[in-house]
This record gives sequence, C-alpha cells and structure tokens, in this order.
Amino acid sequence: MRSLTTVGTLLLLSLLPASFAVKTHDWKTCSQSAFCRRGRALSERARATSNWKSPYSIDPASIAISPEEASLSASVKSSLYPDIKFQLDLKVHEDGVVRVRMDEVDGLRKRYDEAASWALVAEPDVSKSIKWQVGKKDVRATYNGITVTVAFEPLRIALSRSGREEIVLNGQGMLHMEHFRTKTPAVEETPTPEGETPPEEQVQKVVEVNPRAWFEGDEDGWWEETFSSWTDSKPKGPESLSLDVNFPNHGHVYGIPQHATRLSLPTTTGENPTFTEPYRLYNADVFEYEASSTLSLYGSIPLMYAHSKHSTVGVFHAVGSETWIDVAHPTEKSSHSHWISESGIMDVFLLPGPTPSDVFAQYARLTGTPSLPPHWSLGYHQCRWNYVSSDDVRSVQKRFDEENLPVDVFWLDIEYSEEHKYFIWDKKNFPDPVEMMKDVEAIGRKMVVIIDPHLKRTSDYPVYKKASELEVLVKPPSGQGEYEGWCWSGSSSWVDFFNPKSWDWWKSLFKTTQQGDNWSWVESSDNVHIWNDMNEPSVFNGPEITMPKDNIHYGGWEHRDIHNINGMLFQNLTAQALVARSDPPKRPFVLTRSFFAGSQRISAMWTGDNLGTWEHMAVGVQMVLANGIAGMSFGGADVGGFFGNPEPEMLVRWYWVGALAPFFRAHAHIDTKRREPYLLDEQYKSIVRKVLRLRYSMLPVWYTAFRETSVTGVPVLRPQFVMFPQDDGGFPIDDQYYIGSSGLLVKPVVQQGVTETTVYISDREPYYDYFTDRIYRGEGKHVTVPAALDQVPLFIRGGSIISTKERPRRSSPLMKSDPYTLRVALNNNGAAQGELYIDDGETYDHRKGDIVWRSFQAERIKGGKGLRIASTDLAARHPDEAVDGVALAKYNKKNEFANSVSKVRVERIIVLGLPEKPKSVKLEGGAALVWEFIPGVSAQGQKYGGPSKLIVKDPDVSVVSDWAVLVE
Ligand code: GLC
Repeated sequence: MRSLTTVGTLLLLSLLPASFAVKTHDWKTCSQSAFCRRGRALSERARATSNWKSPYSIDPASIAISPEEASLSASVKSSLYPDIKFQLDLKVHEDGVVRVRMDEVDGLRKRYDEAASWALVAEPDVSKSIKWQVGKKDVRATYNGITVTVAFEPLRIALSRSGREEIVLNGQGMLHMEHFRTKTPAVEETPTPEGETPPEEQVQKVVEVNPRAWFEGDEDGWWEETFSSWTDSKPKGPESLSLDVNFPNHGHVYGIPQHATRLSLPTTTGENPTFTEPYRLYNADVFEYEASSTLSLYGSIPLMYAHSKHSTVGVFHAVGSETWIDVAHPTEKSSHSHWISESGIMDVFLLPGPTPSDVFAQYARLTGTPSLPPHWSLGYHQCRWNYVSSDDVRSVQKRFDEENLPVDVFWLDIEYSEEHKYFIWDKKNFPDPVEMMKDVEAIGRKMVVIIDPHLKRTSDYPVYKKASELEVLVKPPSGQGEYEGWCWSGSSSWVDFFNPKSWDWWKSLFKTTQQGDNWSWVESSDNVHIWNDMNEPSVFNGPEITMPKDNIHYGGWEHRDIHNINGMLFQNLTAQALVARSDPPKRPFVLTRSFFAGSQRISAMWTGDNLGTWEHMAVGVQMVLANGIAGMSFGGADVGGFFGNPEPEMLVRWYWVGALAPFFRAHAHIDTKRREPYLLDEQYKSIVRKVLRLRYSMLPVWYTAFRETSVTGVPVLRPQFVMFPQDDGGFPIDDQYYIGSSGLLVKPVVQQGVTETTVYISDREPYYDYFTDRIYRGEGKHVTVPAALDQVPLFIRGGSIISTKERPRRSSPLMKSDPYTLRVALNNNGAAQGELYIDDGETYDHRKGDIVWRSFQAERIKGGKGLRIASTDLAARHPDEAVDGVALAKYNKKNEFANSVSKVRVERIIVLGLPEKPKSVKLEGGAALVWEFIPGVSAQGQKYGGPSKLIVKDPDVSVVSDWAVLVE
C-alpha cells in the first residue's frame, strides 16, 4: 500500500477499509540483513565452541592514564588482524558512570562517531579523584564500592559492586569491530561451518586452518546487499560492530524501546526463546504493526536496564545505525544480550545504579531530562485524519461544548494542506485559517497542525524551493543533487537537518509575521503547535518504507550511519522554531513519531498507528511504560486505536487508558467512522464525560509529576520494579503503574466484558479506592477489585496527599483560579505527604523562580491521637531542585506568578483513615473550621473495610501560603 506511485492512488487506497495484517515481508528479518546475519552467526559459532576465545586484547605497554582525570586509553589488537589498530578509551564520570569507547585508528575510512554528540545533553564531567591501577593482567579503578576491571587478554570489561559482577562487556567473546578494507577479488574460501553445530574436531580444524574466516564467517554481504527490489551499494564495505553485554546477576532486562512487547524483555535466543528474531532498532513506519513482536517501530533508544533485588544497572550505547539485540536468560537470575550495529564506533555508557532512581538520574545526566510540557498539553486532545474544513473544526468544538466534554486541543492532519504542501492551507476547505484559530483560542484552547518532513518537489511550493536553493536536501548515493522519493505529497525530497545551514531557515518558517522577502507561515498563530509525523523517515517507495541507506547527509555521512537519529533532529528544530517565534518565548509542544536517545528533552511522542483491538490497547500500556523508563515520559497511544471502528465498550475503555496516560489524544484513520465522544449513546457518553473530568481534575497531579521528571529523570509512569525494587513479585508486572510520586496506582482495564480485575499490591500500606475510599491490602499479592465499564481501578496508596481541582470546566485554562481539594490518605502510621507544583504553564518564567511548589504533610500529634496537616514552601527549601533541570537564580516566595494565584484557595480537605472521630478541627493559631466525619465501616470478618472519612469544608487557606490545620 505504501509503495505506490501516484498521490491519487495513495489517497484512494487509504480510503479503503484497513485489513489488520502487518506486511512482515516489507521488513527484514535478521537473516535478511547481512550484518545481523554475520553477528548472529558469530554468536552461534561462539556458543558452539567450548574453547572460544575473543581475539581482541590490550597491549599493556600502550596504556596511558590521564594524570588529571579518571580516563585511560589503550591500544587494542585483534590476533586475527595484527596490522589493524584500535583504540579503547575509558572514562569514569563524576557520578560513577563509565564511558567505554572503541574506534579503529588510522583505518581506511573513518567510522561515524557523532551519535553521542546528538544524544548527550553536554560533555559529561570526568572524575578527577578516581585512579586507575595497572596490574599484570588487568587495569582497574575502584570507587564507591564499584570496581571497573579491564582485562588485557582477552579484552573483557567488567563493572562489579561489592565483588559481584554487574555488567560484563565481551565476557562471551563476541566483540567484533569489522575494520575497513579494500574490496579484493574473491579468494578461495575455507568453508565456514553453517547450520548444525559441527563436531568439535572439525571446528578445531577450521579454526586452525583459517581462523579469520572462522571468526568472521565469509564475506557475506560485505559489499552489496539486496532486499526485495532494492540494492544497497555499501560503498564503505563491512563496518559492523558486535558486542555481548551480560548481566550475570540480574534476572530481568528492560528498555531498548520501541517494541510492541512486554516491559521485562522476553528472550530471543537460548532455550525456548519467546521470539525468534532479535529486537531491532531501525526507525520504521510499520503499517498495522503486530501487538507482540520484536519488529522495529518508529523510535529507537539503545538503552537497557538490568534489574534484580540487589541492584539496577544500565547500558546505553550511543549508536545511530540499525541495531539488533538478542536477549537470553541462561538462568532465572542472569541475563545476556548481544548487540549488533551496522556502523559507528563503540560508545557504551555503563550506568552503575544501584537503585532505579540512580540509573534514571545517570541516564538523565547524559541525555537530559524530559522538558516540562506546557500545562495545556496535559489536557485532552481531539484529533482525526481529518477534520476536513474550518467549519468542521468549529462544529466539532461546538458539540464538545454543548455536551460539556472538556477538551484543550483540536488537531489538523495532512488534509488541511494544499496537495500535502505543509504550511500551505487548502483554501477551498480552510478559507479562513486565522479566524478558525481565533475561534478555537477563545477559551484558551490550542490547535496542533501537522508538518511532515517530506517536501513536495514543485517550484510553486516556497518551502521546497528555498530548501533546494539552500542545498539543504538529503542527497542520493552519488552525493549530487536531491534525493527523490514518494510520500503523501507524491514526489518529495527531505530536508537534511544534519546540515546546520537548514537550521535558521527552518526556524524562520514558523514566524507568524512576514520576514522580509522570505516566506514564513503568517497564516498561523502563536497558539498553533506542531505534529511532526513520518520522520523515521517514511518513504513509501524506499527500502523498508524508508530512505536508502546509501543516501548522503551533511558531512558525507551515509543515511545508514544516522538513520535512528534523523527523526529527533526534525522534532528538535521544529520545537526550536516555536520557541523562537514569540517574544517572550513560550514552551513548544511538538508531537513526534520517531525518536532517539535525547528526544525527551524536546517534547512528546506517541506509539503510532495502533489497531483498534484489545491486544493493541494492552500492549500500548506496556509500550508507554517502556518508553517512559527510557526517558520518553510524555507519551501515549491513539485513543480508540488508529485503524478500525471500536465498539462503544472498547472506546470507553480506551478513554480510561488515555486519561491515565501522560499524553491523552484520540485519533483515527481517515477511513474510520467518526467517533468523537459526543456521538456515543448517552450511557457511554456520560462515562466518557466522567473520564474526561477525572483527567482534568487530576491535572495538578500530572503537572507535579512532570516537574519531578524534568529535574530527576525518574519517569512519570512508574512500573512496579521502579516503585518496589526489592519485591521480585513485581518485576515482571507491566499492566499497572504509579503516577509520579503521587502514590496513585492505576490498573487500566484492557479486556472485553470484564466487571472485575486484579491488582498487585507490593507493600503493607492500605490502598484506598479513589472513588469509593474502600481499602485494599495486598503485601505481595494480587487482590480482586471491581472494574465495571464506568470505573477504573485507581487507588491512593496510604501515606499520600493528592491535590485535585474538582470543578468541571470546558478547558484547562479556565481552571486557573479554581480551588483545590486535598485528599489525605493516611498510612499505617497515621501519616501522609504530598506535593503540588504550579507555574504559569506556558512561558519559561518558571526558570526565573515564578513558581509555587508546596509540600503537604500530615503528621500525628499529641500522643498519636491528633493530626496536623501543614502546607510549607518546598521551593524555598530546594531552590536548586525546583524545575526543569535548571537551578533557580533566586527564588522569591512572593514572585509574580505566586501573587497571581494568591487568591486560589484549598476548598476542601478530605482525610481518610483517622482512627477516631476528632473533637475539634481548627486552623493553627486561628478559627475553628466546619467539618463532617463519617465513621469507618469495620471489616466484620469480611475481607476489606472502609476507612473513616473526615471532610474539612473550606478551610479558607491560600494555596501559596504556609498554614496548618489541627485535627484534635
Ligand atoms: C501516519 C500517522 C497517522 C496520520 C497519518 C496521516 O500514518 O501515523 O497518525 O494520521 O499518517 O497523516
């Protein structure tokens, strides 16, 4: 469907009903990808040979240690190619992360070594205090209970903690950096054993006769490779990198998104693997992807965590080329992985942990924390392919308002543009775009409009014309002219965002006022934000629906070298453009489909073209969790499923799923029936209204959670292993999660026809049902909870204080002055705590200290009988942890923003779980308050009891000031 040649046909076919089947033959298996085939064959030979030994070793005489820093370099040789030189560099960073780099030295060509420069937020600080000690067999550094050991022969790098090996590189001897070579006429080969494991003697013979061929295999796909009708010319020849990364003491591995699979990664090799293909990282536009697969999807983050009861560690490989990763669990308590990349240097970061929060912080120090999104973008987004005219947009908005369904953002997909020339309005259907936007903006709503990266090759398209003049388009393999491929706009070319010359020009396009003679998007508004799709890039008539790998980018690099980084640059430049278009700048919202390590610094992502099936709903939850632990906290899946026409039950469940995900957008394919929530029958519509209102009431929780991740990198959605790293019962669990540090536990329902489900509770605390207050206790067990269609299993963990805004409004900006409700859910010790973060939600003034960041604390007083609930200023206590990874220059309690919300009250405090009815409730040093007490229901031999509930009515305290309520 995507390799067609006319736009007309494309559109026509896109209108046909979708048949739910991935065209797996459009994508390579490992055996159809020459370097993966070579890498896997190497690992098979290694496993089949009892005395397999890595040919790579360090020359001890070459070791050089920097006197000022904890960095070391050494020459590495392969016994198979004594004339080829490699250099290994190790650096220990200030925070204990170890960077291991290896590159070929004085080779025939240069390997691509710039992936880290795109992924890293800054050059990391190298420790000055750690010393390397050179021994006879190895060189090692010891710090904070960690030892990094680099063994000379064979080369083996291990990170140990308290004597236990946590991460081992090349422990199985599968390291192989294919050096550059000249193409020689084929020599007669000693046959390399294939298929079945050859008998040991035969193996030995081959090893002795032709060790090179034995280690490397034959020249399989070195110089050219075909797949389907495409030929990859491979002018540089073989340059792949194979590396085994083992975690001898960790039974679970997570990460390497994006794949439609479980959070704890199932095996791909070893005994009875779950999947037979390795996990592939090669950004791809996979049409109707499967709900359980190792197939590549739109984004790639080469980051893997390993977890066990005693520690969490991580490995991040800064590589932008196609990468395949095999996973095995040789025992229940150990994990092996084998990474095979097509090109690039070895640039591996070992994250020592030892807790989940530590590894997240270590990864965030490398690649940055997620940016703090604009507040409105946490509201509900209404999208479909397509709202067909400006009047269509207006009438959809009207229907939402008539039905009291809150929404913040209306989206326009590709059909707003004339012949898919993005930015250019199709004036037949959108005659008045600026007026339309004003209508949407009237109550503070926004629009998001799509801008794809393929530019229609026609001279009447000013964007293409200028890009062509500037010569900033990706080049074909010849390195001359413009690469041409097919996408929505027919014959298209692609901006090469690796070329710095494209940057200012791209940013200038988004200016809403005329810039001299240069074209810019004047028919737009500062309230229009952007959707960047198809940026893998998707090329309908290209190999694997993307660009040929031998296309040429800036600096002469092949597309092969940077494929996985490509999409991130497009989103980054678009976000920068939105920041630059207004003064003072506003935080940008740019949704991307493709992403790489570091994309979290920019904005949001979504999981692409999912299917309207229960399986996709379920795997969507797992994918959002997996993306989140790899930094991409601001993510979600298309609510309703992109393809198909979900029945009302499924649509309602999907709304619950979306409302409890960080990014909440309904979207649908062009050939689906309209399914805006107001079209549902009343019984379903009223549930969706409840869902949307729940989302809006919880916006303070979401925004507070985003503040935290913007500083610490700990994901917004926290799976069980992150919350309870010692509880191995929770390590495989990926169908429930906590929201930030709020203490809210969510178990989305993703099955048809259920009225109850189970939720796993790790700890001893009481869990209060968010809606009924009923208490559940688990302590390492699953408990059964009600889950009818009008409910979602949502719980407050005892010990938490949740802030919400309970007044229904049509959009989030209308809620600015609404009062708060505080829900205090007491823990087993009768205490609780929580926090609330607010700022103007739109500008960067929060970085100057224009914020309100409060701590709420409930503590027992007077011999345990009374309770003191207090609000204090967290920003004053922790100015350097306040926001966005930026230390506040100076924090003033009475800052402008705080003043603007000083009249915002706490209108209600609800306390769950008080042991007995209080005698009085008053403001500390102030008046008695009005309250109501509902006694608890005792369990009376039943499984669960209901807690007591104290409702303090209108304590009349401001959300920005210090206060305390005494319950005595
Ligand atoms: C891609 C996107 C989808 C969008 C469509 C048309 O398939 O993933 O969300 O609606 O293109 O732009």
